[in-house]
Amino acid sequence: MKKASIESIKARICYDSRGDESIETDVKVEGFIGRACAPRGASTGKYEAVGFNPNGIKATLELIFDYSSKLIGFDASNPKSLSQLLREIDGTKNFSRIGGSAAYAISVATAEAFARAKGVPLYKALLPKGPYLMPYPLGNVLCGGKHSGPGAPDIQEFLVCPLGAKSIKEGLRANIAVHKELRKQIEKKDPYFTGGKGDEGGWAPHIKDEEAFELVSSSSKIVSDSLGVDIRLGVDFASSSLWDEDSKAYVYTRWGAKRSSGEQLEFVMELVKKYHLFFLEDPFHEEAYEEFAELTKKLSKVYVVGDDIFVTNTSRLLKGVKMKAGNAAILKVNQAGTLGDAMDFAENARKHNYTLITSHRSGDTSDVHLSHIAIATQSKMIKSGVVGGERLSKLNELLRIDEELGGCNMAKLEV
Ligand code: PGA
Ligand code: ZN
Repeated sequence: MKKASIESIKARICYDSRGDESIETDVKVEGFIGRACAPRGASTGKYEAVGFNPNGIKATLELIFDYSSKLIGFDASNPKSLSQLLREIDGTKNFSRIGGSAAYAISVATAEAFARAKGVPLYKALLPKGPYLMPYPLGNVLCGGKHSGPGAPDIQEFLVCPLGAKSIKEGLRANIAVHKELRKQIEKKDPYFTGGKGDEGGWAPHIKDEEAFELVSSSSKIVSDSLGVDIRLGVDFASSSLWDEDSKAYVYTRWGAKRSSGEQLEFVMELVKKYHLFFLEDPFHEEAYEEFAELTKKLSKVYVVGDDIFVTNTSRLLKGVKMKAGNAAILKVNQAGTLGDAMDFAENARKHNYTLITSHRSGDTSDVHLSHIAIATQSKMIKSGVVGGERLSKLNELLRIDEELGGCNMAKLEV
């Protein structure tokens, strides 16, 4: 697409879904404004881009003002060259000077402004020739770990995915129905359940991991049978949060279990069998490439997914490719810092046959860019919760895109 340059940049402090401060920018390209506010994780990977300058969010904001003169006049058409410029300005490997939230907000807002200036939706500006396929919605229906309070399961996310859905409409309907059914199931078990939810909008009941699996599994079956849509279960163990380096074990503190790496592997394999799981995110901690490789070898037709281990970083992914660690990767733009770097990561994942899943963060905003990025990176799934304004903004955007494309085919999964 023809070049167009950045005309102005404005930045401010806004709030994310947890009520934490975040950076939002307005970038103007040919008179059109793009706006983006950075999301933020709670169970962050050790190697992901740092959110803010070490002196805090105000220092990050000031640096954006200081460097806006370098950005004004720069070509807005190419996320990768903008990423290079932002890296040069920052001068560190992980955006620890200007802050990854600034890199995120500038790069995503620029891409949106460019798309507006060209009169096309963001996904088309990023992937002009297509093909455009709809990612399957992978939704968190039950929250544990760092996204909920004590008493909820140790495992961070119990996920459902409507693998039998023929359209995004059908898929979202199924996930929402499971969310509603699950509440009824939880209330049967605990008549005093308050309806409390975790950070990503899934329920956060006072139950053990095993009970959570039973309830999510029975709720999915009920909905599957009534809607006639195959719904499968997935898990994000977020194992770096469970791993204790001193005792070299995965510690399930809330419910009193401790598992060595070997026992964790057995535990995961048993869960796959018992609950017919198709998606295992971070089953081991962020340095455990070998364990990832062992599990990947042992399983077939199951996605072994790297989030904290790859942190949307191409060189960490390529190490995984070399070791055959995992077969799928989470893409979170703010882990990389910039949209350009995340797109590079996506290209490498596709080239090496790693299935891509574009994902929200636990602290998110009502921005809708995620849906466009998922389509433009040809992600097979999108993780954006099931309910909650900041989750549904993205899922509703998929419905609009589906309508605009006159009905979009679902991506092809290999499970
Ligand atoms: P986070 O969690 O956004 O808190 O990092 C999401 C995830 O681990 O997938
Ligand atoms: Zn994760």
